[in-house]
This record gives sequence, C-alpha cells and structure tokens, in this order.
Amino acid sequence: MPHSDDLLWGAVGDISRFAALLTMAELGLADHLAHGPLDSGELARRCGAHAPSLRRVLRELASMGVVKGTGPDVYDLTEKGTALRSDAPDSVRSSIRMLGEESFWYAMGMLPATVRDGDSAFMKRYGPLYDHLAANPAVSRMFDDYMTARAIPFTEGLAKRYAFPPTATMVDVAGGKGHILATVLHANPQMRGVLFDLEHVAEHARRTLAEEGLAERAQVVSGDMFAEVPAGGDVYLLASVLHNWDDDAAVTILGNVRAAMNPGGRVLLLEVVLPDSEEPHLGKDIDMRMLAIFNGGTERSREEYSALLDRAGLALGKVVELGSGASLIEAVPR
Ligand SMILES: C[S@@+](CC[C@H](N)C(=O)[O-])C[C@H]1O[C@@H](n2cnc3c(N)ncnc32)[C@H](O)[C@@H]1O
Repeated sequence: MPHSDDLLWGAVGDISRFAALLTMAELGLADHLAHGPLDSGELARRCGAHAPSLRRVLRELASMGVVKGTGPDVYDLTEKGTALRSDAPDSVRSSIRMLGEESFWYAMGMLPATVRDGDSAFMKRYGPLYDHLAANPAVSRMFDDYMTARAIPFTEGLAKRYAFPPTATMVDVAGGKGHILATVLHANPQMRGVLFDLEHVAEHARRTLAEEGLAERAQVVSGDMFAEVPAGGDVYLLASVLHNWDDDAAVTILGNVRAAMNPGGRVLLLEVVLPDSEEPHLGKDIDMRMLAIFNGGTERSREEYSALLDRAGLALGKVVELGSGASLIEAVPR
C-alpha cells in the first residue's frame, strides 16, 4: 500500500480534501455552524443537503481539523474552520468556491489536453476568462473576492516594505476590487489613487473604496488597458496582471503605461517571480493555472520580466521581496 506521507499519494489525497472543503464552502456549512454544534441531520436540513452524504463529508472535514465531533454525529466548527465563514475577516470561502467553480475545476482537469495541443481547453469551452467573468456576474464577484483574499499577504508586504513617494498619485492598472489601492492609500495618507479596470469590475471597486472611506482620494475609471490607461500618474501598479498575458500583449500594456505616466514616474509589477532552482515554489503552482486558463499567460523569471520591460522602453530597477512568495519589480523609462 502507498505510504500516506508520500508526496505523490499526498497530492492524490489533496483532491478529495479539496472537494470536501469545496462542499463545505458551497453549502455554507461554516455559516450554519457559526452559532454552535449541530447534528448532521439538522445541518443537512438547514443547508438543503442529503444527510447520509453530508455525514461522510463531515467525517473527512473532521480529519482535516476544520470541524470536530462534539458528540455522536454532532459537529462543531474549529478555529481553523471559522476561516470558511462568510463574515470571517480573511474569509477563504469565496477563494475555495472560485477555485472549485465549474470552469476552473474543468481547466485543471483538462490540463493534459491543454498540454497535448498547446491550446487552453478552458478557452475552447468558456472563451477568454475576463469575457466569461463579464457574462457571469456571480462568478465575477467570487473571482474579485478570491483575488482580494489571495493578495492579503502580498498587500501587507507592499504597504510595509515599499517606500512610496509620499504625495504620489498611483494608478492601479487592472486593480480588481480596489483592495490593494485601499491598503496603499491607508498606509500613505497624502497619496491619491486611480483604480482602472473593466466596467463590471470597476463597479465592484467603487463600492469597496467608498466602504473604505476613500471615495475622496481614489477615483475609479473603467476601460481597456490594451487601448489606453489613465494618464497623469506618478506610480503605475500592475499586480498579478502581466502573468495573464503573452509577451506581445504584456508589452502593449506596458507601452500604454509608459505613454501615460508623468515625467519621473515609475512602474511597479507585483508578481510571483519564478526562481532558477528546482525548489517547490508558489509561482510554479500558479503557473499551472495560467497554463490551463490563458493561451500565453505565464509566470516569469526576473530575467524574463527584465526582457519584457526592455521591449516596452522601461529599465528594471530594484526588486523588493514582499514575503509570501511575491516580489515587487520597480521599473522606470529608459
Ligand atoms: C488577476 S486579476 C488581478 C487583480 C488585482 N490587480 C489583484 O492583484 O488582485 C486581473 C485583472 O485584470 C482585469 N482586466 C482584464 N482585462 C482587462 C482589460 N482589457 N483592461 C483592464 N483591465 C482588465 C480583470 O478585470 C482583473 O481585475
């Protein structure tokens, strides 16, 4: 029999554990257990599930430490499990739902087919990701929430470890829900910001920035970064943007940024930079998702970012490690 600690069989087990977590997130089990333990029959009734099936998922979840049995067939949420509550401060519920959403799950399952013919099976079935999200508002909101949760450690690193020019205007290109811009503006009270994204995402950002009390200091502009980006910024942030695109598309985006920036301006790329070594690395995991979902989307090494910047008339400056696997690459016009 395979040894359960073995990396290969561990990865196989991860599929079952992820599916159990996905069930927990989809059925909102953590929200239903928020006020105290319930037996599996009552929990099934509240979340509209088939009780005998749910009992088996609860057994797997208990083995993972996200719920615990407090009596025969009675389950309570553990501290770890509270992260799946919708109202938890750094809730992972949307992220798990997004990663297990039909199209994302399909993309990963079809990776062998994508690799065989070099053409994303996801794109063949669902079209380009951002068109798919624009056509599916509920999935789009989940994606924005996933981006926000995923960026929390990077964003904290960015606010703490990077010295922004104190009175700069930062344009957050393809900034999503506005979570990164909000953190930077809170940490730098004299800075102003512009959030730029597609219209359906910009709506989400307007709400976030208003809720954060930043409506006065942060403007939200919608548009297409392949046409142009807002002019007049001192700092242009592209966080997890270039890794969605092939080199030619990335150079077009960077060229539009270069054309829009104030004299003396700078570009900041927040990306997970691939190491040269064969060590396990977050960037290699994320790269499998880029490969599966985007034709041409890819994680890159420092040298590859430097070459891209060069093609766009920009020179690589310093690279700041933000922790949690992410780096901030600074660039200025050549
Ligand atoms: C991977 S998300 C990154 C979001 C955010 N920067 C972050 O780090 O969490 C990529 C973003 O690019 C935006 N986007 C995609 N195509 C775009 C386009 N043509 N013009 C402007 N934004 C676009 C998406 O809507 C999405 O918010």
